[in-house]
Amino acid sequence: MAENKESLWMYERPATQYPPLTENTTADVVIVGAGITGLTTAHLLKKAGLKVAVVEADRVCSGVTGHTTAKITSLHQLIYADLVSSQGEDAARVFAQANQAAIGQVEAIVAELEIDCDFQRLPAYTYTEFSDRVSKIEKEVEAAQKVGLPAAFVEKTDLPFAIQGAIRMDNQARFHPANYCNALAETITGDDSRIFEMSRVVDVDKGTVKTVGGSVRAENVVLATQMPILDRGAFFASNFPKRSYLLATRIDGTIPDGMFISAEEPIRSIAPAAGGEILLIGGESHKTGQDPDTRKRYEALKFWAEKMFTVKEIAYEWSSQDYMPADRLPYIGYLHPFTGRVYVATGFGKWGMTRGTFAGMLIRDLILGNENPWAKTFAATRMSPVHSAGSFWMENMNVGRRFMQDRLMSLMPPKESALKPGEGKIIKKDGDRVAAHRDDTGVLHAVSPVCTHLGCYVTWNSAEKSWDCPCHGSRFTADGDILHGPATKGLSKK
Ligand code: FES
Repeated sequence: MAENKESLWMYERPATQYPPLTENTTADVVIVGAGITGLTTAHLLKKAGLKVAVVEADRVCSGVTGHTTAKITSLHQLIYADLVSSQGEDAARVFAQANQAAIGQVEAIVAELEIDCDFQRLPAYTYTEFSDRVSKIEKEVEAAQKVGLPAAFVEKTDLPFAIQGAIRMDNQARFHPANYCNALAETITGDDSRIFEMSRVVDVDKGTVKTVGGSVRAENVVLATQMPILDRGAFFASNFPKRSYLLATRIDGTIPDGMFISAEEPIRSIAPAAGGEILLIGGESHKTGQDPDTRKRYEALKFWAEKMFTVKEIAYEWSSQDYMPADRLPYIGYLHPFTGRVYVATGFGKWGMTRGTFAGMLIRDLILGNENPWAKTFAATRMSPVHSAGSFWMENMNVGRRFMQDRLMSLMPPKESALKPGEGKIIKKDGDRVAAHRDDTGVLHAVSPVCTHLGCYVTWNSAEKSWDCPCHGSRFTADGDILHGPATKGLSKK
């Protein structure tokens, strides 16, 4: 197992120390969340002359942005052929253009601010190892070319194992996301614009964002929290959460030139990092809260990494989470037609460095009243097209099933004495059902099993030692504190 269970990005970057929100204040725009979406939005709006306030529950970049593969690319595994057939060529072209613009935007910011974040242009590939899947790759190449992307079919890559074919997209990019976000954050503070860290938002009411310590009132509110913390858009019904896993390895031999992802399950994502000294290997994704033993995910990834590469060391390992949109396009724009100037960005489908950047660009334009040709395609208020109805209902049936099934299964919970050190389960304690974890020293940590978002029962995540909600992805520590929304309150102690 890895020496370090923190993400490479977070381990290496200098820690930020912005103050918490402890007063009632105002701004032109208040942005909830200091990941790549929130910081890009804030940076661009501040540059346009607006007074911004960023309110972050933890530290800058400590959420999903700090736990990514750091690919900035228009090649999102296989998507263009599907988009052309389901939503039409125009929608696919808008998606392609937004991604390409995001790469250019990051590059421009890096150059302008002279950010030392290891930004590098390199090709991206989606490959198949199976001859009967080559036609899928060919169709993707054709669709990507049709919408103007620099795509080509290739039979060879720099990977040390045989493939049957791949789509290659040139001039894509990677970087150090935490160093990039730290530099963006530095541009935001000053001239009455501010960042507040360690300030969890508990409510948003008519343009006022409230934390326990204070509030920010603004004409515009941007919810850059991955899954919006307000329920009004019902985004949790059209986006479902998935966790995935990453290893940062040192290998014998040359790091492959490019960024790679497999076309088939189990997905394998490969990318260079740390100036070419580290090879990131990711995959093993599954629905949040719906895997009985997440430790096996790391083991499977390690097994595959050692089979395909000569691994000398696994230096870091970590996991992450993102939301998969029902129609494969992100939701960016007004939260709801009747909630005024409240904006959201979600459904990044594990491609958040690119989608989060163009989300920031689009929200900047909406707030400034600039025309933006992407607005309609990504509108957060759009109706899901017919083609997504199947997956939409399947996912919502899955949520409904989890809501009922987990309650029924816990009708006869085991007793406290059945819980071994290291385990977490719903058990019976003093006549109550509780979510309990016995730590390695034998101490019992017991909390309510009912997720504070919409009431599903949480399940134990053995690898991360957390309580994860199988419905919409909220996550909590063993003691019930929030790790991940959309919940805004922790689990009560029992
Ligand atoms: Fe929605 Fe738990 S995250 S019910």
